[in-house]
Amino acid sequence: MADARPFHWEYTPEPVAREVFRIEGGRPLAGTIKVSGAKNAALKLLAASVLTGERCRFTNVPEIEDVRVMVATLLDLGVVVDHPAPGVYEVASGDVDWLFVPLEAAAKMRASFILLGPLLSRFGRVIMSNPGGDRIGRRPVNLHVDAMRALGAEIEYRNGYYFAKAPGRLRGGDVTFPFVSVMGTENAMLAATLADGRTTIRPAAQEPEVDDLIAFLQKMGASVERAAPDTIVVDGRRRLRGADHHVIPDRIEAGTFVVAAAVAGGHVTLEGAPCDHLGSFLETLAAMGVDVVCGRDTIEVRGIPPGEGAYKACDVETAPYPGLATDLQSPVSVLLTRGQGTSRVHETIFEDRLEWLGELGRMGARVEIADSRHASITGPTPLHGAEVSISDLRAGASLILGALAADGTSVIHGAHHVQRGYENIDRKFHDLGARIERLPESVSTPTP
Ligand code: UD1
Repeated sequence: MADARPFHWEYTPEPVAREVFRIEGGRPLAGTIKVSGAKNAALKLLAASVLTGERCRFTNVPEIEDVRVMVATLLDLGVVVDHPAPGVYEVASGDVDWLFVPLEAAAKMRASFILLGPLLSRFGRVIMSNPGGDRIGRRPVNLHVDAMRALGAEIEYRNGYYFAKAPGRLRGGDVTFPFVSVMGTENAMLAATLADGRTTIRPAAQEPEVDDLIAFLQKMGASVERAAPDTIVVDGRRRLRGADHHVIPDRIEAGTFVVAAAVAGGHVTLEGAPCDHLGSFLETLAAMGVDVVCGRDTIEVRGIPPGEGAYKACDVETAPYPGLATDLQSPVSVLLTRGQGTSRVHETIFEDRLEWLGELGRMGARVEIADSRHASITGPTPLHGAEVSISDLRAGASLILGALAADGTSVIHGAHHVQRGYENIDRKFHDLGARIERLPESVSTPTP
């Protein structure tokens, strides 16, 4: 059992391949690409599968680094994970024998903390490392821990680890968050499915990925309902069964490619695009005058090439769903460099998610960062190729967008951050006619 093994057991993470993107910008994009499965849904679905010993099968799982980290973490716990085809994962958690999520896994990906709720609820105890994740401000987990305590868990924090126990069984209860937390909501919900009695979670996150998780839990036999837009009610069950699930499309990836076509110009169609999940984002683009047409599950964008015209300036503010996603703040910021006049950006969710704008400034963007949550961007500004560094996943994708719109060659260091969350991003842009290469750091050439 967990306690019998040495605390710092041998874990050999894959060495991170240091890579760069080298992009020759200034070419309009053209063609059709398919939107991949949603990262932020797939990770939680994989974690939810440990709520049962029966087999669960997922399709449309994005082949990204974060999924590989989650799968590696599950394998380390003793879970059997098969990967019979691209995008297909089968998970069987009959023999979990090691209730310990180590620092090496957690440091790579904050979302590993989503295992707290299901492991604690099913096995009655778990040791979780304090997670790392993106470098975007403080990323505490206090809301997750408080939610587990509201369900009767005993949790101690020592030397970087949370030691969590549920004497007997978790008990249903009221989980009240001081503000909306996506993974906090999901962790509470996962824990509550096997708790004794009724749990009410509010304010509950309303992100589509949370609803995808609810849909999967219902297939597993869980009693989970969204009683009101911001309220989730769970009646705990003794056991859940295995289920199959097709992951919803990634609205953030879709939004990123929509902006790519708008900033680089050209005509791009996204297939399997979740228009219904992109309301605030599409309203922002409409306000800027970008030509975007939504079909039943397609999005078609006709972008104005740089130098051939501008869009309108627009003030944007991120908010929990259904507001503008913080994960789309950085792509939208690139688009604002094409706006006529000054646009203001207000990041309400995370501290320090604007720092990357300094790198966009190296490409010629006229950016003023007022404080950790406010910036302004004045356009239209022609961007030029530059050597820049990625600090997190979304900022990294956005620097690619800047480089595609820029005149000249850009070298973007830290490509591995983008691999975490975007499936084949370089191949997809290549298919749209972009000149983009992913190269080992050692052979990259500096910007001419
Ligand atoms: C999820 C998404 C991430 C997205 C974010 C906001 C996943 C894997 N990640 O992250 O892509 O950007 O939602 O839409 O789904 N907070 C606390 N204490 C906590 C937890 C959160 O103070 O215990 C704060 C955070 O610092 C942040 C705010 O709550 O300021 C909202 O964060 P949250 O919604 O929890 O983000 P994640 O679920 O981690």
